[in-house]
Amino acid sequence: DKGGYKHFMAKEIADQPGVLADALAAYLDGDAILLPDPGIDFSRIERLTLVACGTAFYACLTAKYWFEKMARLPVEVDVASEFRYREPPILPGTAAVFVSQSGETADTLAALRYCRDKADTILSVVNVETSSIARESDLALPIHAGIEVGVASTKAFTCQLNVLLLLAITAACARGHMSQAEKSQLLAELRALPGLFNATLDRSADIEAAARKIAEARDVLFLGRGLMYPLALEGALKLKEISYIHAEAYASGELKHGPIALIDKMVPVIVMAPRDALFDKTVSNMQEVMARGGKVCLISDAAGLAQAGDGIWQGITLPAVDDRLAPLLYALPAQLLAYHAAVAKGTDVDQPRNLAKSVTVE
Ligand code: M6R
Repeated sequence: DKGGYKHFMAKEIADQPGVLADALAAYLDGDAILLPDPGIDFSRIERLTLVACGTAFYACLTAKYWFEKMARLPVEVDVASEFRYREPPILPGTAAVFVSQSGETADTLAALRYCRDKADTILSVVNVETSSIARESDLALPIHAGIEVGVASTKAFTCQLNVLLLLAITAACARGHMSQAEKSQLLAELRALPGLFNATLDRSADIEAAARKIAEARDVLFLGRGLMYPLALEGALKLKEISYIHAEAYASGELKHGPIALIDKMVPVIVMAPRDALFDKTVSNMQEVMARGGKVCLISDAAGLAQAGDGIWQGITLPAVDDRLAPLLYALPAQLLAYHAAVAKGTDVDQPRNLAKSVTVE
């Protein structure tokens, strides 16, 4: 049931405030993060290997930043199709984590089986709790996104991020890198996030207006730094997948190492950048783009848009948010840009050509 929306994807995007609130309620009891038994002892884990495909892979890349910075835990991330054939050595003390909405993705399942007798613990983060990946894990953590029908993953992505963040917080506390007070404060911010989701969805009209302009382009570039880099990759994937516009994403700092050669007035550059500690560097990247006639669509908060000054082609203002939670909030405009660009182009949003919801063959 599309609940009055034109597409499942639109409904699944709009449902995210409620879905995230429910997912949080399932994992939090006050300041306690509830993990199913037998749990995981992060004080004994020495490294993590995260493996997934597509959007779930970008959730893993985001989690790498969280685990490394907050929990001081070294993390490797790989796409399942590369991981399995590379036959990587799995060192003692490794927890292997597999992220999959469907829990049936062939490459991810094969990667899990490869780790079976090698990793200390096999963890999975899944939406379908009865799936093969969940069943074959030592510990399966449900994301509680509810059934996702649209081929383009939306609410499953934010719910994957949510569970991975809760795991990173658990690891940070277990390893003595986060105090009880810091944990309480971050969880309070997380509980406030569904409200910021609503405030962002209220801005849909601005995002739709930008998307209509972007829909006229043949190529689009996404840029982001730090936690926004994986999200730039996710934004580009979403746009390609449903609007068939060619999109690429780069870490902002990589711009001058090649992609800046693409910049001209035909290629919109979507910059995802809350006004965080790295913002000044992003502003100088944007200036490099604008100096070459490039059109910048800046997704930031009010302070960021004010600092960026004149010359921005399209500005999308989001509420200010704790830096660590920005990937969840900034996922919404990335999804809405792709959605409205696809609607403007008249493509089949829920069932894009050549794609299946669950990729059970290699
Ligand atoms: O079910 P999974 O999470 O394992 O699926 C992984 C990818 O196939 C999936 O995320 C795909 O990239 C989506 N269509 C992205 O929107």
